[in-house]
Amino acid sequence: MKEAIEKILAELGELKASTLKEVEEARIRFLGKKGEITALFEEFRSCPPEMKREFGARLNELKKAATEKIETLKASAGESPAAAGPAEDLTMPGDDAPLGSRHPVSIVRQQIVDIFRKYGYGVAEGPEIEDDWHVFEALNFPPNHPAREMQDTFFVSNGHLNPLLLRTHTSSVQVRTMETQDLPIRVICPGRVFRNEAISARAHCIFHQVEGLYIDKGVTFADLKQAILLFAREMFGPETEIRMRPSYFPFTEPSSEVDVSCNICHGKGCNICKGTGWLEIMGCGMVDPNVLRASGIDPDVYSGFAFGMGVERIAMLKWQVNDLRHYFENDLRFLGEFATATEV
Ligand code: PHE
Repeated sequence: MKEAIEKILAELGELKASTLKEVEEARIRFLGKKGEITALFEEFRSCPPEMKREFGARLNELKKAATEKIETLKASAGESPAAAGPAEDLTMPGDDAPLGSRHPVSIVRQQIVDIFRKYGYGVAEGPEIEDDWHVFEALNFPPNHPAREMQDTFFVSNGHLNPLLLRTHTSSVQVRTMETQDLPIRVICPGRVFRNEAISARAHCIFHQVEGLYIDKGVTFADLKQAILLFAREMFGPETEIRMRPSYFPFTEPSSEVDVSCNICHGKGCNICKGTGWLEIMGCGMVDPNVLRASGIDPDVYSGFAFGMGVERIAMLKWQVNDLRHYFENDLRFLGEFATATEV
């Protein structure tokens, strides 16, 4: 019996269990009804009295040691994550993660770019902080020309010949393209522009433009009209008509503003088109010979057209949004409306 007690004590010392199931198995093995220690107690009952004296206390110690060991193992096994099973039920359906959507201005900008890309226009970008030369001078705005007033410029530095300013249109990128690229040129210039205007439903001090430029031998006003008609029909629908009204820009001659037939009332007159049946979408014209000359292009050999539109304006017309400020307030209820807007 002595050896049996020592053996079990040694085994208890070595005993390890990492799960509750293993602890329970150990308990049954030593202390269960048919357990090893229980069996020793059975044996003890039929021992002669002198042996009882010798082993009684020892057996009780063994039982106590075994019980304590099982308790400690149980406590530490209960704490280990493996014992408790996987922490989460991986078969549960996941939480909904709110999905963002593209901003309506980005969607329309991309649509405009995609339409012109299809007709072979490349995309050019340039700096938002520009110099006077690229925004004004090279575009036939001489110093003190009254047309500079129309542009409500934010100046970054002043007082020298070519001050830095926030570009008021992306025509500056067209100048950079004419200065650096070989002819012919067919390019569109999307980008952010800045004007010192009071913020209202129709105007903002930051907005987006896509301007376009096409220069080659023998480009005429008829080419300009065709390019814009194709664009208008892709953007606003195949029934769309365009109308051109004479206008003025220093960098184009002749210049024109373009209206599209109202896509709400189809020309009958409604409150979106203010009863006229037409909506203004862009400015355009034939590139002024002075502009070509300023960029080193011979106006006797080459001619070209240019156009420029506000992306927010196109987006307002496309989705009948009547206040430009919605596009800048980041109200998720508004932005979420465009989650399913399709791209061309
Ligand atoms: N740059 C003009 C503007 O910002 C738009 C325009 C571009 C007009 C090209 C004619 C030709 O208002």
